[in-house]
Amino acid sequence: MNDHSFSKAEKEALYKAMAQRRDMRHFNSEPLDAKTLDKILYAAHLAPSVGLMQPWRFIRVKNSDLRKQLHAIVNEERMKTAEALGERKDEFCRLKVEGVLSCSDVLIAALPDKREKHIFGRRTLPEMDLASLSCAIQNMWLAARAEGIGMGWVSLFEPEALKKLFKMPKGSHPVAILCIGHVDEFYEKPMLEIEEWAKTTPLDEKVFEDYWEE
Ligand SMILES: Cc1cc2nc3c(=O)[nH]c(=O)nc-3n(C[C@H](O)[C@H](O)[C@H](O)COP(=O)(O)O)c2cc1C
Repeated sequence: MNDHSFSKAEKEALYKAMAQRRDMRHFNSEPLDAKTLDKILYAAHLAPSVGLMQPWRFIRVKNSDLRKQLHAIVNEERMKTAEALGERKDEFCRLKVEGVLSCSDVLIAALPDKREKHIFGRRTLPEMDLASLSCAIQNMWLAARAEGIGMGWVSLFEPEALKKLFKMPKGSHPVAILCIGHVDEFYEKPMLEIEEWAKTTPLDEKVFEDYWEE
């Protein structure tokens, strides 16, 4: 505790949002009000970014036909992923990996074109633009959870197909399809863990001292 720290209740709320945030793929049919979506986008815009580049761009997919075409792109990639997985194909096919058609709102999160002019912090690590956009998406995830709204990050798509569908500039790069909306309940733990697809590993396996430990 020091003069700059949040109150106990504020800290608890912050850690609660982080612990109870889930990647959601099941949504109910209740529409999301515009003000809440604005708040979630505002949270994105508060994120840190390399050289204050703010490399986030969002496309709100309002047209239902576009959403259907988007879903077809995701489904095509889902099938290709299933094939690439070999012996885990059937298990993967049983997983729910997106909620594009059932969520209230879909946003495409993308990196803009002309990113090469941003050199500060990216000369040796150009991928810091992606890291910055990811920070923005995490902010959205946390804000959505605090508002009681679910969000799912879908990365099963062919980027060029998305660029074509949404008339995106040549040098831009779509990174996420964000499915946002009301949910009946949040998963208690990662859905991939519930479905026994993968397990979370303890923190101490991720933290080394002095040298990288195998
Ligand atoms: C960069 C990124 C891409 C992801 N892409 C997908 C996806 O295409 N489909 C999906 O079902 N989940 C996707 N997820 C969600 C992860 O599966 C999920 O975060 C992980 O299983 C942990 O669950 P939790 O977010 O509920 O804690 C993605 C997450 C991240 C961070």
